[in-house]
Amino acid sequence: MNFVEEITSWYKTNKRDLPWRKTKDPYLIWMSEIILQQTRVNQGLSYYEKFSNKYPTVKDLANENEDAILKLWQGLGYYSRARNMHFTAKYIVRNYNGNFPSSYAEIVKLKGVGEYTAAAIASFSFNEKKAVLDGNVFRLLSRYFGIHSPIDTGPGKKEFSSLANELISEKEPGTYNQAIMEYGALVCKPKIPVCDSCKLSTSCEAYNTKEVQLLPIKIKKIKKKERHFNFLVITDGKQLFLEQRTEKDIWSKLYQFPLIETKKEIFSLDQKNPILN
Ligand code: ADE
Repeated sequence: MNFVEEITSWYKTNKRDLPWRKTKDPYLIWMSEIILQQTRVNQGLSYYEKFSNKYPTVKDLANENEDAILKLWQGLGYYSRARNMHFTAKYIVRNYNGNFPSSYAEIVKLKGVGEYTAAAIASFSFNEKKAVLDGNVFRLLSRYFGIHSPIDTGPGKKEFSSLANELISEKEPGTYNQAIMEYGALVCKPKIPVCDSCKLSTSCEAYNTKEVQLLPIKIKKIKKKERHFNFLVITDGKQLFLEQRTEKDIWSKLYQFPLIETKKEIFSLDQKNPILN
């Protein structure tokens, strides 16, 4: 069996039983993918159940008010995902008469939907031959084919995208896309991959050259910015004073105690009289 056949056959017997894998409905697949952006599968599961039960069709979601959607989203973080999801539901009802668009080219234009998500929906729902590229796929391809190009630069991404689109299964692109991600998540894992039970290890370039821990290569460092939020709890004994955050920063439009932001720590727990300077 070749690479694609090995992965697809492994998937059919080893895949996790996940609810969004039991449907071809593009609306539900889209919803699952938005929930799973920046969220682990285990954490996303209960949210997918809540949202898909409460809003079984795109019209149900479009007709809901934003506050109720945000309330159900509570705990997932990155609330712009929920707002974009609501916006896009209304857009689909208005512009597509409630029928989810059915090609990658149309899906990728939707707000909140990037290339990965569009490829996932188009291939899982409509079997369109469009390769998904997420962290799992980058890792697996870079290790198996021994590719040292960085995965976080434009040219590097292009190289991986060409390879992924050359490899993708003719017959079952949707299943293969799910399979390669699942293989990366369960076998070719970031820190402790299970090479011992990997059927691809004998032909894996990184395994044979002992570079599994080195690949994939990233060159950009995440820039960290130090910010200190000093919250003020203001109360008359009965009510608490809250304010709404503005749009352009983290936690956009969420409610909070009023705060003074500083670049350095100005208060520590053993310090009784904080000094602002
Ligand atoms: N993470 C993002 N999309 C996923 C999917 N469809 N299945 C499992 N994990 C995922």
